[in-house]
Amino acid sequence: MKTFQRILYGGDYNPNQWPREIWQEDMKMFRNAHINSATVNVFSWAKIQPSEEEYDFSELDDIIDMLSREEYDIVLATSTGAIPAWMAKRYPEVERTDYEGRHHKFGHRHNACPNSPVYQKYSAKLAGKLAKRYGSNPHIKCWHINNEYGGECYCENCEKAFRVWLKKKYGTLDALNQAWNMEFWGHTVYDWDEIVLPNVLGDGMENGRTAFAGISLDYKRFNSDSILANFIGEREAIRVFDKETPVTTNLMGTFKGLDYFKWAKEMDIVSWDNYPRYDTPWSETAMCHDLMRGLKDAPFMLMEQTPSQQNWQAYNSLKRPGQMRAQSYQTIAHGANTIQFFQLRRSVGACEKFHGAVIAHAGTENTRVFREVAQLGAELERLGDAVLDSRNEAQVGIVFDWDNYWALEYTSGPSIDLTYVRHIHEYYKYFYDRNIAVNMIPCDADFSQYKLIVAPVLYMVKDGMVEALETYVENGGTFVTTYMSGIVGQSDNVHLGGYPGPLRKLAGVWVEEIDALAPEQCNEVVMHNGTSCSCGLVCDLMHLEGAESLGEYGKDFYQGMPAVTRNSFGKGHVYYVGTHMEEQGISGILEQAAMDADVKSEISDGNGLEIVCRSAGEKKIYFVLNFTDQEKHIPAALLGKKDLLSGEDVTEETVLKKYDVFILQ
Ligand code: GLA
Ligand code: ZN
Repeated sequence: MKTFQRILYGGDYNPNQWPREIWQEDMKMFRNAHINSATVNVFSWAKIQPSEEEYDFSELDDIIDMLSREEYDIVLATSTGAIPAWMAKRYPEVERTDYEGRHHKFGHRHNACPNSPVYQKYSAKLAGKLAKRYGSNPHIKCWHINNEYGGECYCENCEKAFRVWLKKKYGTLDALNQAWNMEFWGHTVYDWDEIVLPNVLGDGMENGRTAFAGISLDYKRFNSDSILANFIGEREAIRVFDKETPVTTNLMGTFKGLDYFKWAKEMDIVSWDNYPRYDTPWSETAMCHDLMRGLKDAPFMLMEQTPSQQNWQAYNSLKRPGQMRAQSYQTIAHGANTIQFFQLRRSVGACEKFHGAVIAHAGTENTRVFREVAQLGAELERLGDAVLDSRNEAQVGIVFDWDNYWALEYTSGPSIDLTYVRHIHEYYKYFYDRNIAVNMIPCDADFSQYKLIVAPVLYMVKDGMVEALETYVENGGTFVTTYMSGIVGQSDNVHLGGYPGPLRKLAGVWVEEIDALAPEQCNEVVMHNGTSCSCGLVCDLMHLEGAESLGEYGKDFYQGMPAVTRNSFGKGHVYYVGTHMEEQGISGILEQAAMDADVKSEISDGNGLEIVCRSAGEKKIYFVLNFTDQEKHIPAALLGKKDLLSGEDVTEETVLKKYDVFILQ
């Protein structure tokens, strides 16, 4: 497989939306911005296939010729993220039926029914034609299939395909009825054709929840698989003509709809689009990068970010001077080998005309954003391939699992506020704040690689996981889990015998009841070490079964019952956190767990800076970023190292202002 020889720097480029004079302008301006890469043909299906019988690549030929002449690294998209109008008119089945049961007309994008044979046929055919025509062009460095896959379809084709998927999974209706607990409300089905899709016309609820989580979970898995099959269909069509160029599609961080760990197995390289809100904590962005890197445990591409502004959020603030640069280096620090923008030239009409771009509507290089893009481009050019061979290593693994994500947010009770990503981030943040590297890992990761495994809200414990965890802890690993863990198996039926089900032995506790606290209510955890902190959301009422209590509830009828515990299991330890504690409480526990696990930050006094290490053998590259409002000095441990950006050694006098970055080796 081909690999990148330099950091790809560029982004989505739509010359097809512009007259040819502008193309020449673009080339000149991109050169001045040190842009070396362009992603083309993302939404051009209607242009390259104007009718069912006719393909016309003449304009794309010219675009690719131009970019090849200019030695661009081209990311070639397949254009299948938005279907052409003629297709929707002739084959209404290609459009989706939504959660409310409405069959859609032509419009929008990301709009194809994944189980439409027409869509399957024409998307793969187009990908194949593109690969045949351009696959041997050495400037094409990556295939970009579709765009930001997602969404759901509840049409008749999907319903039929769902039944086939279920038959394959369960074999018999008995097994299916049992898995979905269909005796409840007399839902038992006696014929595969009685199964309907769980949208709001079936067992889905108006609020997105469901009467039967078993059905809805299987639908989510099925839908993710269906869309993945579209990706694979195109990938295989490309592979007929091009075996060498990596194939990707742009993912979206913690996006809920698709099981990205499963997807990543089918992708040669992960790429993703990073669009933080104006108030997204930097720790959350870092976590998303770590998750995207974790999907394949390998460097990834940043396929999109805006140079400054978005258009689709509620408040589309400008990135402050230096912010885009700092955000880009944070991305590289966490494992990216490309920095790509959406978009290179701001569009003239439609809903993204206010979306930031390298070239603004003014059309000149004389803008703040252009200058910042050009400065970063020059720096990345100087950096050359210095980071490309390096990787991020971590001793801490945090479990992220899409089945858990879906299942937790489908449950009715105990609290509507039990959302998945928030809890993962709260535990991630402890490590982020201390510059302790984290790998985001799947449920079936090789735990033995890690000294500390943290699995917040591990609501669903799937077959095999508990054995793997027990072996891990027996051999000396440290494991941290929380409230709402160990409750159900993979079909969302409860692990009987008391919570936290299969984790009960490991944690050495039995949770008898789970109290839910409204936002205005709270309790308190009084820790044995003399500290105390506020807690809420849910409170596990638990009994010790071998574990020691680290702190008890301070009030209510369960005052004095353990809220946080630590169990010894084989050579290792297990922490069970029975309630949602405020940050300082979580920190206290993770600090103790990290001590048990002998996990330390490489730069123990980070001074409030974000410090991330990428390494290759003996070579260590430290990214030092200041996201605080204060000026900061370089931590002592890094003094004397050379900054790859300025070429100068850092000293005690070196100061980082807000958004300053050093890359030290
Ligand atoms: C997504 C899409 C792009 C564009 C941007 C705007 O990431 O992939 O086509 O719409 O959003 O932020
Ligand atoms: Zn469908």
